[in-house]
Parts: sequence; structure tokens; C-alpha cells
Amino acid sequence: MKEDKLILAIESSCDETAAAVVRNGREVLSNVISSQIELHKLYGGVVPEIASRKHIEKINQVIEEAIKEAGVTLADVDAIGVTYGPGLVGALLVGVAEAKAIAYAAKKPLIGVHHIEGHISANYIENKELEPPFICLVVSGGHTHLVRVTDYGVYEILGRTRDDAAGEAFDKVARAIGLGYPGGPKIDKLAKEGDEKAISFPKAKVAESPYDFSFSGLKSAVLNYINSCQMKGENINKADIAASFQKAVIDVLVEHAMMAVKNFGNKKLAIAGGVASNSSLRAAMQKACAENGVTFYYPSPVLCTDNAAMIGTAAYYELLKGVTHGWDLNAVPNLKLGER
Ligand code: KG4
Ligand code: ZN
Repeated sequence: MKEDKLILAIESSCDETAAAVVRNGREVLSNVISSQIELHKLYGGVVPEIASRKHIEKINQVIEEAIKEAGVTLADVDAIGVTYGPGLVGALLVGVAEAKAIAYAAKKPLIGVHHIEGHISANYIENKELEPPFICLVVSGGHTHLVRVTDYGVYEILGRTRDDAAGEAFDKVARAIGLGYPGGPKIDKLAKEGDEKAISFPKAKVAESPYDFSFSGLKSAVLNYINSCQMKGENINKADIAASFQKAVIDVLVEHAMMAVKNFGNKKLAIAGGVASNSSLRAAMQKACAENGVTFYYPSPVLCTDNAAMIGTAAYYELLKGVTHGWDLNAVPNLKLGER
């Protein structure tokens, strides 16, 4: 029996059509991403109908390129991994249908992957020594979860957002100050020119659930601040708003992550998801970890935002456990972490 396991992975849950070939879970042979950002920018956010149509247009070329770039053939692949939730249903269906067709025709096992499990697994790719248990903060456009990873594919959710996701807050504030979509990277850049102490925005806490997050109050505070400046005829300093808002988000993320690490006596902290590529968040988390004797793990920016390599990694650990899906696999837009 051949030792190496190759996964062909597909991701289409939101606005990136992506395919990758991953060897033994941690070696990325190819990672092809076709982004739709330019298209959705025109509308200030992702338009689900347009996303689905673009996925169906691109998916075959993206997969073909991933296989070619990896220097393998479909016959060499051991299993097909695909994101089946959570996400936009029409977008997910494109990837799931494609994965099922390939798996059926090529007689390969089919492995459905949870999108957030993919984000968490992105940490295994460049940190070869990282193994569970560890604490992971997942901060993306749709999700904000503080998770205890007790084993491969085994998760305990400690806290989550009660309203907006962290990335959603970045995108909404960016729109309010006229930066356009997607706002996260733009706020990240502009904040470097601003004073993070210029404006005091609230750091929302959820009283009875210390690990939970809430960002809608902060978003409203930013909008109110902008309105009140405009009413008084004062100019707004966009860089100061970006820096002060970003600091309010990061302070809470760092505080909660460090609380989890301490309470569970875990000396390993990872971050994942699109917002994990934020340079100030990385720096603040690195500093807090160093002060507390915690090893900090984070993926490269290209592995933080949506990609298929992370799905291939997660699928590999499922394959090792013998977990595969049947031909009835469907898209599950509100799939919960840890559910099959
Ligand atoms: O993980 P992701 O690609 O998609 C979801 O699964 O949601 O995350 C996208 C989110 C967007 O909200 C985007 O604004 C945010 O990640 N983001 C950032 C940065 N890069 C992307 N937020 C803050 N700073 C960044 N550098
Ligand atoms: Zn994502």
C-alpha cells in the first residue's frame, strides 16, 4: 500500500473558487484561488446569486490547474475533500456537486469538510510541529469562535459572537468611512497612519458568558461618532477612526484568547480566518503570548483567507480516522462545528 495520501480539495463557500492538492495533510502541492472580489466590490459586498454563477463558470479550470500545478493525475489522488458548510447555499452546492461527480467518476472516497474546521487546520500547514490540544481563535467574515481543539477534528466551542462577526464589523466600519469592500485589509493599512487612542470606543463584553463576543455595539458606536461629527460640521479623521476601532476589536480578541489559554492551562494558541491576517492583531497576540509563555501559531495571509489547501488538510485527518461521506452529501449552509 502506498504511504503518501493525496487529497484533492475544493472550496466554494463564499466568493473564492478554490482547489488544492495536499500531501499527507501538511504539504501543499498546489493552492489555486480564483477570487471574485473585483466583481462583488461593485455592490459593496458578496451577492450570493452572482457568487454561485461565477463558481460554476470557474470551478473546472481551477481544479484542472490545481492538479496540473501539483504534477499529479486524478488517479494519484486518494480522496476528494470539499467544504459542505457553513456558507452560501448556492455557492456551496457548486463545490459539493463537483466533488461528488469527480469522486463518483474516479471511484474515490468523498470527504465533506466544515469550513471553520478548514480555517483552523490551516495552522497545521506551516507549523509542522503543531498538534492538538491547543486553543484557536477563529475570526473571519462570517464567524468569530474561540475554540478548544482537543484532538484532530474534535472541537469544544468556548465562545462565539452574539451578533456581528469580527470581519463583518471591519467591513461595515470600512464602508461607513468610504473605504469600500472588503474592508478588513483597508482598515489594517489605514490604521497604521492613525492614532489608536484618538477615540474611545466601547469594548463590548457579554456579562454572563466571558468567552463570547459582541461587535454590533462597537459598530454602532463608530456610526454614531461619524454622524455626530457630521452634525457638528467637523471633519472626520478616517485613519484615527480605523486605528481606534481596530484597537477596540483587537483588545477584546486578545483578552479572551489569553483568558482561555490560562483557564485551560494550554500553552499553545493559534489564530485562523480572514481577520487573522490583520497585522496589528498578529502583533498584539504575539506580544501577549510572549508575555505569558505561550507559543503563538498563525497561518500566512493566503492561508488565512478562504482557500482549498486548508480543506485538504482537514480532509486528510478525517481520512486517517476513516471518516468519509456517502453519495447523499448535501450543502448545509448553517452547519455547526463538530457536526457531521
Ligand atoms: O475567512 P474569510 O476569507 O472568509 C470567511 O470565511 O468569512 O474572511 C474574510 C474576512 C472579511 O471580512 C475581510 O474584511 C477580513 O476577513 N479580512 C481582514 C483582513 N484581511 C481580510 N480583516 C482585518 N484585517 C485584515 N488584514
Ligand atoms: Zn472563510
